[in-house]
Parts: sequence; structure tokens; C-alpha cells
Amino acid sequence: MSYAGKKRKLDKTRQDRVYFDSYSDVTVHEEMIADYVRTNTYRTAILKNSELIRGKVVLDVGAGTGVLSIFCAQAGAKKVYAVEACSIAEQAVEIVKQNNVEDVVEVIRGTVETVELPEKVEVIVSEWMGYALLHESMLNSVLYARDRWLKAGGLILPSRAELYITPISDPVVEDRLYFWYTVKEQYGVDMSCMSNFARRCIKNSDIIVSNVAMEDVLSHPARFAELDLHSVTVEELRTVKGRFTCESFGSAAVNAFCVYFTVTFPCPEKPHSLVLSTSPFYPETHWKQAVLYLDSPVEVVQDTPFSGEVSMFPSEDSSRHICIHVDYTIGEQKEQSKTFSIPDWTAEPQP
Ligand SMILES: C[S@@+](CC[C@H](N)C(=O)[O-])C[C@H]1O[C@@H](n2cnc3c(N)ncnc32)[C@H](O)[C@@H]1O
Repeated sequence: MSYAGKKRKLDKTRQDRVYFDSYSDVTVHEEMIADYVRTNTYRTAILKNSELIRGKVVLDVGAGTGVLSIFCAQAGAKKVYAVEACSIAEQAVEIVKQNNVEDVVEVIRGTVETVELPEKVEVIVSEWMGYALLHESMLNSVLYARDRWLKAGGLILPSRAELYITPISDPVVEDRLYFWYTVKEQYGVDMSCMSNFARRCIKNSDIIVSNVAMEDVLSHPARFAELDLHSVTVEELRTVKGRFTCESFGSAAVNAFCVYFTVTFPCPEKPHSLVLSTSPFYPETHWKQAVLYLDSPVEVVQDTPFSGEVSMFPSEDSSRHICIHVDYTIGEQKEQSKTFSIPDWTAEPQP
């Protein structure tokens, strides 16, 4: 984007409008429904919890096309309130009719913070996770719904989220930097001076959402935060942070950290829970992983220790945009720090 860095601070109403508009188009719903790992894990979790859902009242927070609400109807729910703020709710009404569950699923257009339900619910289901878990800040809305509408002892699907970090060695980005040294060989024009510029462009402080190859992962991932959806508060979400330690599998040049998440559904059957994982070691999802490039690579050997602290908090420009700050030490190096943010795809040029 030519105007990167010239973004304007958006007020909350405009932030919400931009956010909900992004869910009014088919593309994002196509991507979510086509993500088999995501959609099928929710389906399995809902159907495996049918004992707890049968005959119960459910609230689907951010129902989108209504797919999770319909799974709940199929699991025997007595009533499902499918609350959706944006115009995709009109499609949800059609999909509910097409599946003959309109006597169970009621689509309500509005934000969960403003709608009035006629009763409290026994179950909340929601797919609220954004890139690096907390991008979009939709979990705040789920917590609002929990505190306002869930009966004591009610079920929340999913009920727990965990965040992990691991160092990686991404050869592709180093190849991209080296590319500028190869131009002379091809065309007789030396463009090696572009390498520093390329480094500044590529290894900037953007959170890069991409698929990390498992062979590029350099250690066992370290869990740095856990959120229990029954008890976590909006106040606690203002900064989610935790320490990590891990050790290198072998010799490599570390050039990034990778952050990813899992969410866990309670499951009455063995092994008592069902996990939706976005780890590079598990099948790909549309969330991919969040890659945080270091300014320059660091050589490590087997068992080189990594330690530090990760903090995640909303950006000052938009409360729906996540920032990740990492304080880290690699081997004998002194502690380094870097703050990363999701590029503002909605930024507007300055007048
Ligand atoms: C990640 S999508 C999930 C859609 C659907 N549940 C699914 O699994 O395919 C989140 C949806 O929640 C809606 N949403 C986000 N915050 C909301 C809020 N506060 N009130 C109502 N809907 C909300 C968005 O418009 C979007 O359609």
C-alpha cells in the first residue's frame, strides 16, 4: 500500500462499521466454511456435546451464515438465538429455512451488546478467533454475552484458548533478500544495494500471516498464555501476556518467531476435550500462523536457550487491531525487544 504509515485513527463507530462491513461479503464466509478443520471441529464438538445441548436454549454469538446455529439445532437444541450484526444475517435466514430449522433457529440482526433476548441461555457457541487469536477483539463480545445472557453453570463452546510461541528459521525470506545479489548475473545490472531496502520492507514490524512449514520450526512450542472463557474478564484481555522458554532442536539461523493458538471444547466422551489447533504441526487452517521477523538472523546450535515475554494488546489506532510485543533473549545475547502490529488493510490515505 503506497500510503502505509499514513493511517488515520478511526473512531470506535467507524472501526465497527469497517469491521462489520468486512463480514458482509461472501468471500470471508466462503473462506471460513471452506476451512474444513475449523468448521468440522465445531461440528464435531457440538454433536459430541448433544447430551448437554438437547432441549436447551443456545446463543450463537456472531452467527454469520448460521452454520453453528444449525449444528446446534441438529444436536437437539430447543431454541437457538443466532445473533449477527451485519447483513450476512439475511443469508442466514435463508439458510435456516433451507435446512427446515426455522422453528428452532431465530436469526436476530444486531450486535450482541444491544439485542434483547426473551430469556437467558444454557449454552453459548461462538467462533470469535482472529489472527493470532485476538485480532478483531471479538472475544470481548462473547464475554459480554456470557455475563449478560448465560445462566450460571452454562456451557461455552469453545471453553479455553491457549497461545504458543516458537522460534523459526524461514529460508524463503532470506532467499528474497539474497535475490538482489543475483540480478547482476542475470541482466548485467548490479542491484545488490537494494538488499538493505528489501530488508527494511520485509523484516519490518508487521505481523505476517502465513503458513509456517513444520521443518522451519526450531523448538518445541512454548505456551505463554491461557484463557478460561468461563472466568476471563474484558479487563484481563487489555493485555494478555506470559513468559516463555524453549531450546533449539539444532543448528540454524533464527530469523523469526511464530505465534499460534489452540481452542479447546469440553467433550463428555474420552479424551474429555477436543482441540482446534492452528499449530504448524497440524493441518492448515485459514488462520495460518502469525510470523514476527527479527531485524537480523541469529545463529543458534542445539540446545541454545530462548526465553522472554510476549504481550498482546489492542493497537492505539484501532482497538480491533492486535499488537504483539516480544522481549527475548537468544543464547548469550542481551535481551532484545520488538513490537509488531497487523498491517492496517483498512487504512485510508491522508487528505
Ligand atoms: C468469525 S465470523 C463466524 C461466523 C459464523 N459463526 C461461522 O462460524 O461461520 C464472526 C461473525 O460474528 C459477527 N460479529 C462479530 N462481533 C459481533 C457482535 N458484537 N454482535 C453480533 N455479531 C458479531 C461478524 O459480523 C461475523 O459474521
